[in-house]
Amino acid sequence: MPRSDGLPRTEVPAAFDAGARAYDRLVGANPGYHHHLRLSAQRLGLPGGGAGLRLLDAGCGTGASTAALLTVAPAAEIVAFDASAQMLDQARAKDFPSSVRFVHATLDEFDADGQFDACLAAYLVRNLPDPDAGLRKLHGLLRPGGRLAAHEYSVADSRRARAVWDAVCWSIIIPAGRLATGDGSLYRHLWRSVQQFDGARAFTQRLQAAGFGDVTEHTMPGWQRGVVHTFTGVR
Ligand SMILES: C[S@@+](CC[C@H](N)C(=O)[O-])C[C@H]1O[C@@H](n2cnc3c(N)ncnc32)[C@H](O)[C@@H]1O
Repeated sequence: MPRSDGLPRTEVPAAFDAGARAYDRLVGANPGYHHHLRLSAQRLGLPGGGAGLRLLDAGCGTGASTAALLTVAPAAEIVAFDASAQMLDQARAKDFPSSVRFVHATLDEFDADGQFDACLAAYLVRNLPDPDAGLRKLHGLLRPGGRLAAHEYSVADSRRARAVWDAVCWSIIIPAGRLATGDGSLYRHLWRSVQQFDGARAFTQRLQAAGFGDVTEHTMPGWQRGVVHTFTGVR
């Protein structure tokens, strides 16, 4: 059943399939996009360049977040999964080392309980059919003591952030998305889903309810201040 806050979440991966070819061009035009993913990966606090660690990129898309993990943990083994085959095709076409493996699966289907030392989930949780169940699943994929960084838009707690988000979406993101893909629906979904999503306080509570401890929240520099955040938590 469609939700009032954008695409039905089961249709989100198909919408990313349709937008996959334009995705890197669009996010590349967003100042700070890659830098902010690296900040979230750094905020996992991984030791020793990731040597001996097994890392997960949940909802890896075209591999932008995978590249961020690789930059901060070049010695780690990285598994990256996504529900969109077309987004994964873009990721697999890039020059990743053999320590990085891409898997086509939804979060529900991805079966690897307790196997990861840390997980980056960038722009995933808001897109899930059931964010609480999704966070519990991510919690279970970590070993005890393992860390999650959820990199996510969250504007509900700040009038300024909501105004910035509306202005940037309607002046740049939605027109550019329509121009690049011939269809603005994915980018209208982005606008609406962020507008309707948790504020930082509610998302922090959601993480705690899913079992995460030591939950922290940090925002980004640039226009994304107060708009994009890293939430970290520990299993
Ligand atoms: C906005 S993109 C982010 C991609 C990448 N993490 C990045 O930072 O550029 C969100 C991704 O989540 C994926 N996704 C959405 N729902 C999913 C689900 N239930 N299971 C796995 N992936 C999902 C989409 O296919 C899409 O590639």
